[in-house]
Amino acid sequence: MDHRRHVREPGTDFRSRALGVARTDQTIIDYSKEFPEEWRHLVNYGLLAGGTASPRITISVVRDWLRRQSTKPDKELETVFERFELVANVSRTEISEVWKGVDRISGEAVAVKIFLHSTTHAVSLAERETDVLNAIDSPRIVQILHYGLVNTGRPAIVLKWVDGSPLSELIEEGEAFAWDAALEIGFEILKALSEIHPNTSRAAELRSKTELTVDEFHELQMVDSGYIHRDIKPGNLIWNKNSRQITLIDFNISSKAGAQVATTSNTPGYIPPDYHLADPSQAWSPDVDLFAVGVVLYQLMSGAMPYASDDPFNPREVAGDGIPENVRRALLRSVAPRQRDRFDSAVDFIAALAETPQQSG
Ligand SMILES: Nc1ncnc2c1ncn2[C@@H]1O[C@H](COP(=O)(O)OP(=O)(O)O)[C@@H](O)[C@H]1O
Ligand SMILES: [Mg+2]
Repeated sequence: MDHRRHVREPGTDFRSRALGVARTDQTIIDYSKEFPEEWRHLVNYGLLAGGTASPRITISVVRDWLRRQSTKPDKELETVFERFELVANVSRTEISEVWKGVDRISGEAVAVKIFLHSTTHAVSLAERETDVLNAIDSPRIVQILHYGLVNTGRPAIVLKWVDGSPLSELIEEGEAFAWDAALEIGFEILKALSEIHPNTSRAAELRSKTELTVDEFHELQMVDSGYIHRDIKPGNLIWNKNSRQITLIDFNISSKAGAQVATTSNTPGYIPPDYHLADPSQAWSPDVDLFAVGVVLYQLMSGAMPYASDDPFNPREVAGDGIPENVRRALLRSVAPRQRDRFDSAVDFIAALAETPQQSG
């Protein structure tokens, strides 16, 4: 069943109607009132954030925004290899193989992620990753350049090459991270997450404006619903020692915040113990990613996971010399077994880690 085609239809319909109206591009409309049915469709399909109030926008904003939404990958059999030359294989997981490559047109280094199967499941993973990355524009999130099918029918995405090493590689090589170096990395990861998670105060600020530019309108869709990465772990975090930046990769299981918890693809050890997979009353929310950040920081600072394998409800304190008390407390809180005890925003987690340490003794 081509679910996705169905999803896109209301948008297409909306576009033709929006563009068909005989008014100038600068006409200001309130499009939830002007196109109530399309608005409801778009909200239902998760293409637009919901909410009772909608801002007034000009027709040209609607048009530019719809054009932006429709930068859909070309699903025709596209020869990725005509444009991108594969140079060296850098990874193979159950999901994909990743190659370092070169864009023959720009000469730039790229990462070509080729999914291992040509099944509809693989296509949906690749499309999810493409859709999410197209929606996000942030220096700490990997940039997508292209989506297509390789000649075997397997989906492939082409990403900007990120210099550095995945934290998993550094951990495997036995690299020791002092607590303050680990904390620096933690702040980077949390800043990256604060840019993709929902941001209700920014949404309210944008809603209160009488008119929005296309960038602001796009930002409103983003901050209103936001994304949960769902697979924060060392292999998906690339650390560049020179620029001291983290880049977040691997969005193939990301969900809109608020979407129902319905699949089991999260990596064990990085998902909170109280997330009951396939529980329809539970929704993906930022605390899932923040829990995983806590686990990564435990690993970097102490070389151990917070939970003993036989006791998933009693996290230990992070072990390591010199770790300030507020950092210990914040980490313990981030991996608390119950959602109500964990952080619910990256900004709060950053604030707790950044508290001025108490002078001891
Ligand atoms: N844009 C990139 N730049 C550099 N290396 C990358 C990039 N994307 C992926 N990689 C490498 O490939 C590995 C697997 O990529 P990832 O997207 O996590 O695939 P999977 O979904 O199979 O886990 C990463 O851990 C990293 O080593
Ligand atoms: Mg990965």
